[in-house]
Amino acid sequence: MIRSRILGVGRYLPERRVTNLDLAKMFDTSDEWIRQRTGIVERRFADEGVYCSDLALEASREALKSAGMSAADLDFVIFATLSPDHHFPGNGCYLQPKLGISGIGCMDIRNQCSGFLYSLAVADAFVRIGMYRRILVVGAEVHSSGLSFTDEGRDVSVIFGDGAGAVIVGPSDDPARGILTNHLHADGAFADILRLEMFDISRKPCLTHEMLDRGSLWPKMKGKEVFRVAVTRIPEVIDEALKAVGLKVEDVDLFIPHQANLRINQFAAAKLGVPEEKFYSNIQQYGNTTAASLPIALSEALEQGLVKPGSLIMFVAFGAGFTWGASVIRW
Ligand code: UT7
Repeated sequence: MIRSRILGVGRYLPERRVTNLDLAKMFDTSDEWIRQRTGIVERRFADEGVYCSDLALEASREALKSAGMSAADLDFVIFATLSPDHHFPGNGCYLQPKLGISGIGCMDIRNQCSGFLYSLAVADAFVRIGMYRRILVVGAEVHSSGLSFTDEGRDVSVIFGDGAGAVIVGPSDDPARGILTNHLHADGAFADILRLEMFDISRKPCLTHEMLDRGSLWPKMKGKEVFRVAVTRIPEVIDEALKAVGLKVEDVDLFIPHQANLRINQFAAAKLGVPEEKFYSNIQQYGNTTAASLPIALSEALEQGLVKPGSLIMFVAFGAGFTWGASVIRW
């Protein structure tokens, strides 16, 4: 059986650091509140004029370089984001010419914090059926243009940061190495718990001044509800994925969880009886970068020597939708 594996990894974070103290100058919050509730110390914000596809371009170039490939070698692009350059067309179509290529298929996946996992699973399936051999999977976000930096928006705006991460997925020459299993879930009963209304297609027109005045441009979240379901679903899907490949939590060398809230990941680790240091964490520096968080974390973990050939790693994510999932990879 053909297995797919990750052939290259890259990340890009905008230069501009925004600390909790910087946010506290804009609205009523504090460094102490943000650190205690989320673990976040600072995040990166892209400058005015920078598109999500620009961040993706940098991460993609690094991923191509680490795979020893050029953009011309790619045969498909999957772009995961909730903050695309424009409402349509998809961001893959904006990224493609920036990479200096044309003609190959480009697809966007809109699954928020689980977007990268869903994209990776699609890439894995394409490679396993022999449809494509060099797929760029990129997760990128520019949240900073879509957050309300006011007292009303503070519960959401302190959490998110900008960034991009990318991987190249292709066939593995060793059947024991690569993506072993993917598990994707959703429960749309929770769709309105965390959402950006922005427009309402049932209304004509779909966006009005009245909607903008009442804040439909800003994401709304019932944070406690997200937290409550996340800490149940994350250990559950980890368990499900490990069972599928006949492995145990002790076999995993590194868990790479989505970085939504340090406390969510600490909670999940404790529930599974996994030492906290086995749950990779960089939310302190970047906040929640949604579809970018997993490939950014993987790229750092590789650099830090936490992932080596033969390591068993596990991606796990949970977010809006609700959507969640996990992938197990033998590196
Ligand atoms: O990627 C998936 C997306 N999201 C998540 O995973 C988020 C999951 N949820 C969370 O991370 C947490 O629910 C939050 C960090 C968002 C909030 O923490 P919480 O412990 O659930 O706080 P809360 O919403 O219950 O608010 C507690 C208090 C409230 O004040 P009162 O009513 O007790 O006086 C809030 O108004 O904290 C207040 N508050 C803030 N204070 C300072 C809310 N946001 C802030 C803020 N700074 N930024």
